[in-house]
Amino acid sequence: MGMDMEVTELLTFPALLALLVFVLSVPFITKFVKTRKHPNLNLPPGSLGWPVIGETFEFLRRGYEGEPELFIRERMEKYDSRVFKTSLLGEPMIMFCGAAGNKFLFSNENKDVQVWWPTSVRKLLRSSLVTKVGYEAKTMRKLLMSFLNPEALKNYLAKMDTVACCHITNHWQGKEDVLVYPTVKLYAFELACCLFASIEDAILVFKLSPQFDEFLKGVISFPINLPGTRFHRAMKAADAIREELKLIIKKRRVDLEEKRASPTQDLLSYLLVTSDSSGRFLTEKEIIDNILLLLFAGHDTSRSVITSVIQYLGRMPHVYEQVLEEQLEISKGKEAGQLLQWEDIQKMKYLWNVASEVMRLSPPVTGSYREALNNFTYAGYTIPKGWKLSWSTSSSHKDPAFFPDPDHFDASRFEGAGPTPFSYAPFGGGPRMCLGQEFARLEILVFMHNIVKRFKWWLLIPNEKFLHDPMLKPSKGLSIRLQPLQI
Ligand code: HEM
Repeated sequence: MGMDMEVTELLTFPALLALLVFVLSVPFITKFVKTRKHPNLNLPPGSLGWPVIGETFEFLRRGYEGEPELFIRERMEKYDSRVFKTSLLGEPMIMFCGAAGNKFLFSNENKDVQVWWPTSVRKLLRSSLVTKVGYEAKTMRKLLMSFLNPEALKNYLAKMDTVACCHITNHWQGKEDVLVYPTVKLYAFELACCLFASIEDAILVFKLSPQFDEFLKGVISFPINLPGTRFHRAMKAADAIREELKLIIKKRRVDLEEKRASPTQDLLSYLLVTSDSSGRFLTEKEIIDNILLLLFAGHDTSRSVITSVIQYLGRMPHVYEQVLEEQLEISKGKEAGQLLQWEDIQKMKYLWNVASEVMRLSPPVTGSYREALNNFTYAGYTIPKGWKLSWSTSSSHKDPAFFPDPDHFDASRFEGAGPTPFSYAPFGGGPRMCLGQEFARLEILVFMHNIVKRFKWWLLIPNEKFLHDPMLKPSKGLSIRLQPLQI
């Protein structure tokens, strides 16, 4: 009886929770202990921080404060401006800095390094492209790319323009004030849903949108799958989205068979009917995971850039005026209601230079990850096989050697040949560079063209801070006051 009492007391919820946390932490602890056993190696300088947690909280804190570059810069100054070691998200990690670091990582894919994403990303995006390496990644990238290359995107320009026009009519027109970040999300998410899976039913989009928010919050998090954690909520949201996609696929297969759907109408149809270069069709799981990946990778990044561009234009009326002039020139000669043509996009040079300069100063993504495939030497230090490696946009984007007066906004940096190779990397680089760069360019240009033509605006909080969570976003949503233009 006494014994029974003790066992019952021990099995209280907090005790069970502690036990579970301990069990889940064992792999991290083992990794941490192993990592510290490198006494004879000339590892890059730096600190591995606290057991298990490493320097993750400091890294995330800097992001939440809107200054992720400080985490990197302080360590570059303290240890070595080329490379330093740290420990993030349960992994010992070596941070490669500046354009030289980017060049090394981007040029050595599948030789000394290969792409790697934190456990949270891999567990959430399962069999999608981001978890593939080598030949498998090459064929999957090629397959997805044939939907996302400029030639293919030409076919979707009219749809993008239509979605942007409707969005502005529904959510901007007639309003005095707009909260930009959540509003632009509707455009980016609607567009991704429409072009990737023809999800146009407003009720379904409305249902999926908050699930995506939960999913996104957990993408870069500690992969501890316990109720109450961000990761747990993200896993549940991903499962719910997968179930919806399963139903959509089931219906699509029938529609394709009965010719009610076209094989080129969206990414989903395309993946169902197209094999990769080795003749293999993706499995249903792979199709679902890749659509989930593109929905994830494709809408928050672009909305972050659009929101930042709106802030910069609000702060710099002379830049806004120049953008407006270019866009009105494009609209001139068009009949009312005539949609944008591919040639129009090529004429939006100044607007794209402005967006590029915004991404230099305020990159939406802080960087990404690789893994060492062999022991090798970099900057005189040993990089051990299996260690995780990272690069950051901020360490080269603000380097005065490549961008004189680096904090000053100057869109002309992107004229002509543009920045020195590897110094500017908002989309990463090398064989694993962002797959959606062209899609994003189109999405941003089409949206900004439509907004600038219709409105002038003022920032209601002029110096609102932007923070990373995990993408760059305004801390208060970016409130603006609109003045419609009579054109
Ligand atoms: C302004 C918007 C965007 C930015 C700044 C951005 C940035 C990035 C970055 C930094 C990476 C990692 C690259 C590397 O490790 O070298 C990446 C990967 C990726 N992005 Fe984007 N992205 C954007 C929009 C998009 C869009 C619209 C899509 C899809 C339609 C997309 C799909 C992907 C995919 C699939 C990958 C993984 C590629 C691979 O592993 O091979 N991205 N992106």
